[in-house]
Amino acid sequence: MSTNTHKTIVITGANRGIGYAMANICQQRGDTVYALCRQSSKDLDALGVNVVEQIDVATQAGIDKAVSALSDVSIDLLINNAGILRNEQLSDLNQETIVEQFNVNAVAPLFLSHALLANLSSGSKIGFITSRMGSVTDNTSGGRYGYRMSKVALNIAAVSLARDLADEDISVGIYHPGYVQTEMVNSSGILSNGDISAAVAAERLIALMDNLTMADSGVFKHSNGETLPW
Ligand SMILES: NC(=O)c1ccc[n+]([C@@H]2O[C@H](COP(=O)([O-])OP(=O)(O)OC[C@H]3O[C@@H](n4cnc5c(N)ncnc54)[C@H](OP(=O)(O)O)[C@@H]3O)[C@@H](O)[C@H]2O)c1
Repeated sequence: MSTNTHKTIVITGANRGIGYAMANICQQRGDTVYALCRQSSKDLDALGVNVVEQIDVATQAGIDKAVSALSDVSIDLLINNAGILRNEQLSDLNQETIVEQFNVNAVAPLFLSHALLANLSSGSKIGFITSRMGSVTDNTSGGRYGYRMSKVALNIAAVSLARDLADEDISVGIYHPGYVQTEMVNSSGILSNGDISAAVAAERLIALMDNLTMADSGVFKHSNGETLPW
């Protein structure tokens, strides 16, 4: 059974997909939700959460805006969810898209988390939505250079954060959401459709973050609860 100890939850990339679905669940159960996004959506506007627009996590302006919008907010759970998937195979490597993914998927979550450290305190949690495509052990099919490189970089940054924040009693969860029916997957034109809905993935992820403790800080988990190999 999950224990909801969260009160104030900040989610990036909350206008659609898994981020929106997590905002929806948290709002329904009475949490105070800050939904960060570049641009809101009709669905997000309809939720009645605190929508903070113009948060491109990969820009300093976006990070500064998040810091100022949340200046008086004590955050119980910060969920770094925003991410992008491009497609490079060995036959068509593209430095621009590899760097783009590295910035959005790995550098941005680290810098946003760092910028919001003053809003966190003992008992606060940080969740990173990564991917098992960032598991070296799990990479049996190759390809997807930029995405895989960015998610493995995110994973190691999250583990460093888990170690560095342990003394402050701030825990860090690292989660693969599953193969999820969102625009990233279903509209990519490069992947087959996901096998679970964003609502199901979000429910599982929120339950894992509810139950995250210092004992499993820095552990890489599938949303189904399995621990994943690096
Ligand atoms: N779907 C899957 O099967 C799957 C599997 C493994 C991991 N994941 C991870 O799950 C997370 C959520 O993905 P999703 O499936 O929900 O994909 P999605 O529907 O494509 O949503 C991605 C979200 O990230 C936001 N975003 C992208 N770049 C951003 C930026 N620079 N600044 C701020 N927001 C930005 C998008 O906002 P805009 O609308 O402004 O573009 C959107 O809200 C990602 O980190 C992804 O890598 C997904």
